[in-house]
Amino acid sequence: MEAQKTKKLYVGGNWKSNGDLKFAKEHIENLINKLDFSPDKMEVMISPIFIHLPLAKEITKPNVIVAAQNVSPFPKGAYTGEITAEQLKDLGLRCAIVGHSERRSHFQESDELVAEKIVQAQKEGLDVVLCIGEKLEEREAGETNSICKRELEAVLAKKVDWSKIVIAYEPIWAIGTGKVATPEQAQEVHNFIRNWVKENVGADEAEKIRIIYGGSVDDKNCANLIKMKDIDGFLVGGASLKPAFTTIVKICNEIAKT
Ligand code: PGA
Repeated sequence: MEAQKTKKLYVGGNWKSNGDLKFAKEHIENLINKLDFSPDKMEVMISPIFIHLPLAKEITKPNVIVAAQNVSPFPKGAYTGEITAEQLKDLGLRCAIVGHSERRSHFQESDELVAEKIVQAQKEGLDVVLCIGEKLEEREAGETNSICKRELEAVLAKKVDWSKIVIAYEPIWAIGTGKVATPEQAQEVHNFIRNWVKENVGADEAEKIRIIYGGSVDDKNCANLIKMKDIDGFLVGGASLKPAFTTIVKICNEIAKT
């Protein structure tokens, strides 16, 4: 039986470190601005690289959220190379992705640093998409839930506003590998995460928070995933750069609450 969706779905496109200015412009004009969805039923987000954000913000239709892929854990000042939440807000943005596994692994971002980024983002009123998830060897060792719990606990320690957070469960073994989690595997972890929010933050917050899945989502596998009770949308990498993104948004729009 299909789960009845009770909250607005959320579909984000994480463009990662891809594309040049020409691609960004054309992709927004030819595909993103033509997406057909009801903003009452779902939110759609795109996240290009930092230097493409001003253009993206300018030309993307206002029904699509333009988000940064990262944000500084510090306020403005002597932090060479960093871009602050205040500077993102100044550009008219209202969202940033934090804690993506590629940032945690390639740039040694700790749980604590990720939590600090959320604090800085929320000080400026930005929403965040918080990415969590386990490596293959951690899943095989039965540590999936404890890894997610550890990553969430670091955020809990900072006393953040959970109503401004979308949690993206992204098993690292599924990212960019073509090995998508099965709907049952994803549902099991999403359910664990929602229960964790219920026990540690509150029942109301647990009910309302969007927990989205990421990791090799495409136009073929998204329909079965979105049917699962605790899957409230997707964070899409590779497929968000392709026409498949249109299909993913369309399928989510069809199942979203009316
Ligand atoms: P993928 O990436 O869809 O290419 O697996 C997802 C992500 O990293 O957010």
